[in-house]
Amino acid sequence: QNTTQMTGKYTYREIDESSIYSELEDIFIISPQRLREICKVFVKEMEDGLKSDNCTLKMIPSFVTNRPTGKEVGTYLALDLGGTNFRVCEINLEGQSKVRLRAKKFTIPDSAKTADQTVLFDFLAESIAIFIKEYNINTESDINLGFTFSFPVQQTALNKGTILLWNKGFNCANSIGKDVVNLLSEALARKQLKVNVVALVNDTVGTLMSHAYVDPGTCVGVILGTGTNAAYVETIDAIPKWTGGPVKSNEMIINSEWGAFDNERKVLPWTKYDEQQDAAGTNPGKQTFEKMISGMYLGEIVRLVCKDLIDRKILFGGMSSTEMDTPGKFETAYMSRIERDHTAELTDTKMVLQEILKIPYVAPRDRRIVRRICELVAIRAARLAACGVAAVVTKMNRVDSGCTVAIDGSVYEHYPHFDSRMRDALHELFGMFSENVSLQLGKDGSGIGAAVIAALADK
Ligand code: GLC
Repeated sequence: QNTTQMTGKYTYREIDESSIYSELEDIFIISPQRLREICKVFVKEMEDGLKSDNCTLKMIPSFVTNRPTGKEVGTYLALDLGGTNFRVCEINLEGQSKVRLRAKKFTIPDSAKTADQTVLFDFLAESIAIFIKEYNINTESDINLGFTFSFPVQQTALNKGTILLWNKGFNCANSIGKDVVNLLSEALARKQLKVNVVALVNDTVGTLMSHAYVDPGTCVGVILGTGTNAAYVETIDAIPKWTGGPVKSNEMIINSEWGAFDNERKVLPWTKYDEQQDAAGTNPGKQTFEKMISGMYLGEIVRLVCKDLIDRKILFGGMSSTEMDTPGKFETAYMSRIERDHTAELTDTKMVLQEILKIPYVAPRDRRIVRRICELVAIRAARLAACGVAAVVTKMNRVDSGCTVAIDGSVYEHYPHFDSRMRDALHELFGMFSENVSLQLGKDGSGIGAAVIAALADK
């Protein structure tokens, strides 16, 4: 029964806490049965994408056709663009699966993310110039660079590809359909830098390749960070749309661009909160799967659920704040912090809500509710990510024989329990066979992978 009560601090609707939880659980918990359905549709969509370019899953051939042996050597530069940070790296492949890495992070000004493409590419070239100077890189004889560009690109050669779509907060006017390597090479030439761009690489492909440099059993690379995506090893015969002729290894690494999965909203448990977030973002209707999983979006979903409960006077006595009312202010990092809060009174949760998000009064019950919202949103994300992995492994026919899945990205690396929640879902899908799927953290994969690919191109 709902009654309005006065406490010393505020008025709120006394709704049984458990009925709030069951309302949220109904929306956010994905049953094992639903996981199986999603997985089945996923495999089908992958097959369709391998047949034609006009499908939801782009299934892009990366032009990377052989995996490393761990013996590759050489010094390369790598650019890593597409997550929260932009990095320039110098990578030394020493053979025997050993790698030395020196890297510098740069923060891309928000203005450059949404300006004319030359602003962004000039910023990239300038960062390379700073790096070369600071780290004393020898550019006497031109140095080779692998460019990790983590956006959908229609690749036409190892070092050629046109931009299909921006996402994750980037949107550079006039660049759709342009060759990314040209844009970078022109910017490098404007700065008279002697650097050759020899490979254009997606971060998932890089993660797969860098992990394969140390573990040859790796056949999938996944990113669970600002965005999400996966690449895997496919056989040429299973790619009907491939027109590039025979390939010596008979293998091709495919960049699935799985962030776009179910843009038609056929099978994913899309909620009114997802709808609100999608409608307010930069690319509504796109990147459906990614928007339910990755770091750029999770905090915002939690904020929208909180807002709804505030409006219904169920949370914080109906009191909000400017911060809570502002899109993007509830960062995914706060969710991690709240889920890590093991104090009896949830004091750190209170800190986040009161000190950072400026909610005037946060009762213990409010803290528990917000924490549960974070858990539910993150569990849903982990289970969906597991569905993607399961679909890829099923497509590869590796459920029985097993494989290593290299995963990089802030959500996988830092979000509490993300890995175990994924494993639980894999277990629900594959039973004891889930043990054949080994999820491994592949750190710095996107940069190192670009170097590995540049080295293979050199051969
Ligand atoms: C987005 C991009 C994709 C990238 C992923 C992870 O989904 O479209 O190319 O791999 O983010 O960074």
